[in-house]
Amino acid sequence: MDAIRIRGTKPLSGKITVSGAKNAALPILCATLLSEGESRLRNVPGLRDIKTTSALLGFLGRDTQVNTPDVIVSAETTPVRPMAPYELVRQMRASVLVLGPLVARYGKAKVSLPGGCAIGARPVDQHLRGLEALGAKIAVEHGYILAEAGRLRGAEIVFDIPTVGGTENLMMAAALAKGRSTLVNCAREPEIEELGRVLNKMGAQVEGAGTAVIHIHGKDELEPFDHAVIADRIEAGTFMAAVGATGGDVLLEHAPLDDLEPVVMKLRQAGIEIEREGQAVRVRRQGALRPVDVTTAPHPGFPTDMQAQFMALMTRAEGRSVLTETIFENRFMHVPELQRMGARIETRNNTAFVEGVDTLSGASVMATDLRASASLVIAGLISGGETIVRRVYHLDRGYEAIEKKLAAVGADIERIDLEGP
Ligand code: UD1
Repeated sequence: MDAIRIRGTKPLSGKITVSGAKNAALPILCATLLSEGESRLRNVPGLRDIKTTSALLGFLGRDTQVNTPDVIVSAETTPVRPMAPYELVRQMRASVLVLGPLVARYGKAKVSLPGGCAIGARPVDQHLRGLEALGAKIAVEHGYILAEAGRLRGAEIVFDIPTVGGTENLMMAAALAKGRSTLVNCAREPEIEELGRVLNKMGAQVEGAGTAVIHIHGKDELEPFDHAVIADRIEAGTFMAAVGATGGDVLLEHAPLDDLEPVVMKLRQAGIEIEREGQAVRVRRQGALRPVDVTTAPHPGFPTDMQAQFMALMTRAEGRSVLTETIFENRFMHVPELQRMGARIETRNNTAFVEGVDTLSGASVMATDLRASASLVIAGLISGGETIVRRVYHLDRGYEAIEKKLAAVGADIERIDLEGP
């Protein structure tokens, strides 16, 4: 099984190109189902989640050619089978994003319930309630969501909490519903704004994507599209944290600075210099690393997807930082692994107290989820001796060739083949 071996404490310097955003590409791939023609995506990252989505689209009956950074979803030639099996959904929760497009276009769908995952229970009640408001009949049987509808009808939907996937699923469904929908208390992530742009290219009238209230004028039919995906703010933020941790000077090409404001603010407070340089962003740290407190929140707050990486950074700060996780109930799985590397962290409920130490020591550690894996890689980069990160399939879900990108800026890091789990 693949693992990542790191020999730490080398400052990073050079250039890294940020890939396309996973969390933007996944809903956009699902949006291709809304039209019968051939759609083309560009700047798609080469990730396991993209392959899983392509397998899912293939299962549904839409041939997908993945040749990243290009992906082509071919026109509908055979009748689509509106069914997402457990086997695929369990590999990637975002598979539930086919639900909205399938119900809207085919009037029925059978999609496996995603179930919980390492970081929390993650229900989809808001997705289902919203679809019911648009006129779908929903039942849950034998672990599957069964949805049926005639033509969906526009409606006003108020989310109880801002949910990224829920907002996306309902935007896609509403784009083919009859009449006007208003979605209230929406998630405001940049990836939602991006989906709004794509739906507009398809001919839907979407206003307000990226704000709390989205208006959508549904259409009878939508057009296929050609679209280049925005850059991955979380990948960029992860590299910023890595450079902040190791020290050094790295130019991040295509880093989406505007989408990263809450992260950049905290990194700057920690003593990391981050400056725009043309189309790129220069990240540097020369002085000491200062402790900074962080509380995760829906966008434009500090993203939960950067919490683990920020914690790895804070293990080396000169003092105590307090990190509070408010989005997922179980997102401190990286803590025991960081502790095994010598980090001083205590947790109480959803808060972690991190006391910076002078050095971490390399160890064999286990990745538990995607962002936890990235935090272990950062910890490995600042640890003396050798770190082996196991279960890197988590990392491969969301980081394109991370070991190659880091090796190119001077890290001693490689992928190895290890016996055992
Ligand atoms: C997306 C991102 C993920 C990120 C998360 C929060 C993708 C593919 N994934 O996940 O990387 O960590 O946003 O920024 O874009 N909830 C409910 N009921 C629902 C839906 C959600 O209670 O119907 C809860 C969840 O359990 C969680 C919170 O709402 O506590 C936010 O979840 P949500 O925004 O839906 O996350 P995802 O779309 O799954």
